[in-house]
Amino acid sequence: FQSKVLAGKRVLLTAGPTFEPIDPVRGITNLSSGKMGYAIARAAREAGAEVTLVSGPTALDTPYGVHRINVQTAQQMHDVVLSRVGGQDVFIAVAAVADWRVANASGQKLKKNGAGDVPRLDFAQNPDILAAVAALPGRPYCVGFAAESEKLLEYGEEKRKRKGIPLLVGNIGHQTFGKDENELVLFDDAGHQRLPRADKRMLGRLLVGEIARRLG
Ligand code: C5P
Repeated sequence: FQSKVLAGKRVLLTAGPTFEPIDPVRGITNLSSGKMGYAIARAAREAGAEVTLVSGPTALDTPYGVHRINVQTAQQMHDVVLSRVGGQDVFIAVAAVADWRVANASGQKLKKNGAGDVPRLDFAQNPDILAAVAALPGRPYCVGFAAESEKLLEYGEEKRKRKGIPLLVGNIGHQTFGKDENELVLFDDAGHQRLPRADKRMLGRLLVGEIARRLG
């Protein structure tokens, strides 16, 4: 139903969670199925774009025709994105990136001891991938996502300004994780606009249309 509104464009996306190791068998992650990001990747490809999807661990199949690069940690996602961002027209940060990694991760499996001692984890802050891309000279058109548990309209616009991006997509409510349906609100220079509640595939197409319109 949608024409090739992104023909000749190159689109880079992140999707899914990141996984930050504690030791070789344990880690810390964020709630994200990857469904929203994969739906946008699929829709962008259907709209004629050349699509690169940098994905954290998910159970999803790669959409047809999409070039997928798998990563685990936020640092890996950051490094892959920055190595691929040159020549991209659009960057869409959909991934639920862990804000912190375990600074004292163990190379060997941590063992219980009889005394009931518990491990102590130290954290270090991960790089903000979206902010890093948005700060590049000659940057692509940058789109961010926000999942807030309250005050979405206020925090959404504030986040868009702080990240320095032209378009931010808010998830209305935080009951969306793993679900097939979602409800989105778009924040841009003109204000905010709700999209109709729909399944993620349909929202991916609507969003691609909105992005193409703003690219001009
Ligand atoms: O600041 P917050 O994490 O709420 O911002 C969410 C947006 O920023 C999402 O688009 C997410 O993909 C992106 N992000 C990122 N790198 C991070 C944290 C968030 O790209 N380290």
